[in-house]
Amino acid sequence: MTTTDSALCEFFSVAGKTVLVTGGSRGIGLAIAEGFVRAGARVYICSRSEDACAAAAKELSRYGECHALAANLSSAEECRSLAAQIAERETRLDVLVNNAGAIWAERLEEYPESGWDKVFNLNVKGPFFLVQSLLPLLKAAAAPERPARVITVGSIDGLHIPSHETYAYSSSKAAVHQLSKHLADQLAPFSITVNVIAPGMFNSKMLKGTLEQHGEETMLAPVPLKRFANGTDMAGTAIFLASPAGSYITGAVLPVDGGTATTL
Ligand SMILES: NC(=O)c1ccc[n+]([C@@H]2O[C@H](COP(=O)([O-])OP(=O)(O)OC[C@H]3O[C@@H](n4cnc5c(N)ncnc54)[C@H](OP(=O)(O)O)[C@@H]3O)[C@@H](O)[C@H]2O)c1
Repeated sequence: MTTTDSALCEFFSVAGKTVLVTGGSRGIGLAIAEGFVRAGARVYICSRSEDACAAAAKELSRYGECHALAANLSSAEECRSLAAQIAERETRLDVLVNNAGAIWAERLEEYPESGWDKVFNLNVKGPFFLVQSLLPLLKAAAAPERPARVITVGSIDGLHIPSHETYAYSSSKAAVHQLSKHLADQLAPFSITVNVIAPGMFNSKMLKGTLEQHGEETMLAPVPLKRFANGTDMAGTAIFLASPAGSYITGAVLPVDGGTATTL
């Protein structure tokens, strides 16, 4: 190993950490989970579909250690049940990545209550009750020089006004950004950092419908860097926030959006 390699390992290593990535079966969560597995962490992924999750964990196990757990994180009860399953297997959790999320688009006149409930239950209530339920394991991993980390995947739609009629989604993302800052303040005395990654557009199942409707050229027009976010952008940012280099950052909302919201 060269001096440069060893310095990079020292700054950015997440090897040996225990990590939970919610919604890790596809899209951004899968990219983040793959990044941690390849970097030597022991990773748990969860989603509602047991089969999809198991298939993703099997695929990622080619690179290292990855386990699948099924859970619907829209209810406090299932958040507690997932935390209990982790506690049966682990004595500490170094990194929680709250990534699972849902979107709902509908004209203002027709926007249903069920859309609000679906989006807020998963995007805001879920991360809160998962942090609450996993607190003992996060505290067990935490130390002043090596804090435990909560990383929540928000969205630039919580920072700017999206052009699509996704009222509950943009509001939920602004809410989860604020919730994360509030938790960062509360959990700092326990050496737990809480930060948000706010992605721009990532070509996943969530974006599929909008992309098919509007086309790539139109969608990329407002993006200064003229491309979608990719797996390296997502995993690299999460690993940075979870690494020694990210130890002194808390309460931050980090846009990873090719300049879409940051250059407005
Ligand atoms: N794609 C983008 O352009 C973009 C931009 C900004 C922010 N984001 C945010 O990034 C995160 C990931 O989005 P994505 O684009 O990767 O979405 P995606 O492809 O739809 O993946 C969502 C993941 O969450 C899981 N999930 C959905 N509902 C769940 C529930 N009730 N309980 C547990 N897991 C659930 C899904 O698996 P199951 O269906 O099996 O449960 C899947 O693993 C979300 O928070 C999203 O808001 C995305």
